[in-house]
Amino acid sequence: MIKLKYSHIKSITAADLDALMPALREADDKIRNKNGEGADFTGWIDLPVNYDKAEFARIKAAARRIRENSDVLLVIGIGGSYLGARAVIELLYSSYYNQLRKDRPEIYFIGNSFSGDELAKVLSLCDGKRVSVNVISKSGTTTESAIAFRIVRSYLEKRYGREELKKRIYATTDKQKGALKAFADREGYECFVIPDDIGGRFSVLTAVGLLPIAVSGADIDALMAGAAACREHLLQAGLQNEAYTYARLRNAFLKKGRMVEVLASYDPSFRYMGEWFKQLFGESEGKDKKGIFPASVIFSTDLHSLGQYIQDGSPILFETVCRQAVPSEKTVIPNDDENIDNLNFLTGETLENVNDKAFLGTLLAHADGGTESIIVEYADKSEYAVGELIYFFFLACAASGYMLGVNPFNQPGVEAYKKNMFALLGKPGFEDKKAELEERLKTFDK
Ligand code: PA5
Repeated sequence: MIKLKYSHIKSITAADLDALMPALREADDKIRNKNGEGADFTGWIDLPVNYDKAEFARIKAAARRIRENSDVLLVIGIGGSYLGARAVIELLYSSYYNQLRKDRPEIYFIGNSFSGDELAKVLSLCDGKRVSVNVISKSGTTTESAIAFRIVRSYLEKRYGREELKKRIYATTDKQKGALKAFADREGYECFVIPDDIGGRFSVLTAVGLLPIAVSGADIDALMAGAAACREHLLQAGLQNEAYTYARLRNAFLKKGRMVEVLASYDPSFRYMGEWFKQLFGESEGKDKKGIFPASVIFSTDLHSLGQYIQDGSPILFETVCRQAVPSEKTVIPNDDENIDNLNFLTGETLENVNDKAFLGTLLAHADGGTESIIVEYADKSEYAVGELIYFFFLACAASGYMLGVNPFNQPGVEAYKKNMFALLGKPGFEDKKAELEERLKTFDK
């Protein structure tokens, strides 16, 4: 089970946490009774126990087929439509998954930027390999992924022909709305559903995350079981549960002017969990001129870049360190008779223990500098433990957002850049906006 450690934190008192109990009680009521702002998007709460078992079986069957008939899976999606799958696959197998899992398809995540350079490079990696595609978009209209899908189709149609290609494309989208659904139905792609009541950033335990994760060979039953066990534990524990306490700690830090949360891990495989976390909390809380700005770092790597700021910079930060209770590997440091590097005091020591001391040393140093750390501990790198961690952050995020006084389940701010981009690209219907923006751009440096 996820453990939360914070007794070492000096700047937040028991009184500070108690003062947040009324707000937490209200948040808990909105979550349990699904009667708060954005209640239509709380399907993730019970998903680990009431997911569609028939669709789950179809996901596993499709994953088996892709593993058998493909060397590469292209996952097209952006934001909530790719971050969770990438985070889980990399945490389980490291960022070297494509090189290490020789018996599985390589998995590439595309359609999450407008970079033609990136897309061309990934397509060049597909040359001569058997390719399947999982295109993921809840709205079915997101421009980054829609353009990438068009380019990928054009590339693959030349190789497979339209009929054969239809058997290699899997669409994960709304059950009836959106351009992707219409297109998929017309072409006869196999479709998976993103439930109406689950928003993108809460969707990793739906087909959105599950199909790519299952293709990687990970055990999605165990992932769901971990999430279900965490749900059961947290909801039964009530207001004192670990996710709610984490939510209170975050809000207590914010009240003391700590408006940036740095999510830290000492494991490079956690990098995309950090990206997933930033989207989850950033889109859920950052609105109505409120919210904690979520950042993420990998230590000790980033102790040699952002470490200086965290130690000594503006006093606006707090840290949340995610730790694996039991390290996966034991790498022993060998003796060197010459000892020119003066490291023989570490002979026989494991790198994992060195990492642990780096963690403890940093925790103390950052506290001395005024940046205190919450510790979130997960058991290991099993699918079960990752499922627990995901559910822990979901519940904490919903509670924290409600405590802050925002609707944690909408993202109105995401539309602003899209409207401007469409206008500047000359999309029909945006003519007035185009003229207005072009006028404004005249004042910019050429
Ligand atoms: O959390 C969200 O809702 C967003 O980040 C979406 O996941 C992202 O914008 C992609 O949207 P869609 O799945 O509709 O293509």
